Amino acid sequence: MSGRLNGKVALITGASRGVGLADAQLMVAEGAKVVMTDINSEQGEAAAKIIGKDAMFIKQDVSSQEDWAAVIQAIRDTHGRLDILVNNAAILLFGEITNTTLERWQKIQSVNSDSVFIGTQAALPLMEESGGGSIINMSSSAAVFGMPYFVAYAASKSAVRGLTKAVAVHCHRSRNNVRCNSIHPDGIATDMPMEVAGDMPEMDGVSAMKALSYTCLPEDIAKTVLFLASDDSVGINGAAINVNKTATITPPYL
Ligand SMILES: NC(=O)c1ccc[n+]([C@@H]2O[C@H](COP(=O)([O-])OP(=O)(O)OC[C@H]3O[C@@H](n4cnc5c(N)ncnc54)[C@H](O)[C@@H]3O)[C@@H](O)[C@H]2O)c1
Repeated sequence: MSGRLNGKVALITGASRGVGLADAQLMVAEGAKVVMTDINSEQGEAAAKIIGKDAMFIKQDVSSQEDWAAVIQAIRDTHGRLDILVNNAAILLFGEITNTTLERWQKIQSVNSDSVFIGTQAALPLMEESGGGSIINMSSSAAVFGMPYFVAYAASKSAVRGLTKAVAVHCHRSRNNVRCNSIHPDGIATDMPMEVAGDMPEMDGVSAMKALSYTCLPEDIAKTVLFLASDDSVGINGAAINVNKTATITPPYL
């Protein structure tokens, strides 16, 4: 590896498994100190231990303002700086416009988009004190294509897109040297889509596997996250990057 993140400190939410874990592994390999957070502490502690001394784990519910304050304070105490924030944690729940309850809608907004608002507010001051940095928000192709089986999820990821753009313009106007971009993958081969596949009326095991053949691996997404985290993307602010081999939407969702 080429040390593209040497000297940088990164915070990755939802890093116990899937894309967040792949991000953490790649960032440490590229020289960063990585703080991994997740609501699932058992898996997160174990993952950080395997990655080694440059990774630490902190339990965090991303929808809690108190947890964000505690995480940022811990990073300040341990590392004294923060250069990279990856807002990655999210949940995916099945539900169409006809059968999604308000309670379920609000739960998804709170974990997927309120968290990005709270987290950005909490992290920005330390990133500014550190001389700037990169905020990377995991959105989804759902924000672009509007997946009908996941109405609340699609809306939450559109909120992340709008927030990203607003923060990017704010940072430019503030001349704080912070950049903010969103990533929009289609299917990724992680537990997230597989755990809801059974809830989808037209998504049987065969079509789920067919969908998977079109998808990216978590490691593929991590490479885009690394690019946005590193100084290689110094001129990129407010971008919405599609990471999607099909250039369209995977067939089972249509
Ligand atoms: N997997 C896909 O097909 C896909 C496609 C497009 C976008 N995405 C996005 O990519 C990101 C990573 O997805 P993934 O596939 O790795 O998912 P995943 O379910 O494997 O991992 C998500 C992690 O977030 C954690 N989490 C859930 N709620 C939390 C909370 N309240 N506080 C803290 N942590 C919490 C989970 O414990 C889990 O470890 C997400 O933002 C997701 O929406 C995924």
